[in-house]
Amino acid sequence: MEFQNLLITNKGRIQYITINRESKLNALNKATLAELHAAFTEAFNNKEVGGIIITGAGPKAFVAGADISEFADLDIEGGKQLSRTGHSEVFDVIANGNKPVIAAVNGFALGGGLELAMACHIRIASDNAKMGLPEVTLGLMPGYGGTQRLNQLVGKGKALEMILTADMITAAEALQYGLVTHVVTADELLPKAEEILSKILTRAPLAIAAAIRCVNAAYTDGVNGYETEIEEFGKSFGTKDFKEGVAAFLEKRKADFKGE
Ligand code: COA
Repeated sequence: MEFQNLLITNKGRIQYITINRESKLNALNKATLAELHAAFTEAFNNKEVGGIIITGAGPKAFVAGADISEFADLDIEGGKQLSRTGHSEVFDVIANGNKPVIAAVNGFALGGGLELAMACHIRIASDNAKMGLPEVTLGLMPGYGGTQRLNQLVGKGKALEMILTADMITAAEALQYGLVTHVVTADELLPKAEEILSKILTRAPLAIAAAIRCVNAAYTDGVNGYETEIEEFGKSFGTKDFKEGVAAFLEKRKADFKGE
């Protein structure tokens, strides 16, 4: 599929999805959200892709938020629809993906941009990155998962402080709060993301997918995460990857997992 707002590049089994609206600081307009839905759906279904790194074009922004210029004409129903569609088509698709997704936060990650990073499985940042949920400055509040995922990552107190003050935090603060797991220079950002993802890609793919499902189950209402773990743990004994992993250990060699 041809994209107007995304760049897709493949490096081995790593797929880069780069949001490419640099002149608008990569703000998420409806067209970009629709393309993200298509790109992630394709990546999760493509056997050649092992994992995804998402980042923003240019040196300044990961994503500076939802595109505010598209907000002006929305009414209550329109706002609700925008949020619901975003959740189901993009943010939940990424969070529930069967392959690891790393957000390489290369600058401003604000509003929907931070929410996008938080939907990813792992976040790392460049030392110039700034993160925040400034929606209340617009008379709005976060609508793409910010009031839920930020609490999960940094705890209720810090989440409420960030959401209510609308303050941006630095990459160093984000590291301290657990919002990102590494901070490196801008030049080191993508190599670091590749290093983490490459390591994950040497592990058993079905076990990786199952682990993502189990961790997500801990945050899903009405789902007993322990039960999910028991089921998924059991299922892993039925995979070829399990047999290969154990055989490789006993034969003192590296496992060659096929995702079967
Ligand atoms: N939606 C739409 N356009 C946006 C945008 C957004 N969220 N964020 C930035 N842009 C656009 C600006 O309108 C500007 O476009 P223009 O050159 O056509 O006027 C361009 O991106 C560059 O942004 P600018 O504001 O000039 O850059 P800056 O360095 O002065 O400020 C920010 C950077 C991130 C502080 C500022 O752009 C900003 O506050 N953005 C909005 C952040 C926000 O509230 N996000 C949450 C939305 S729910």
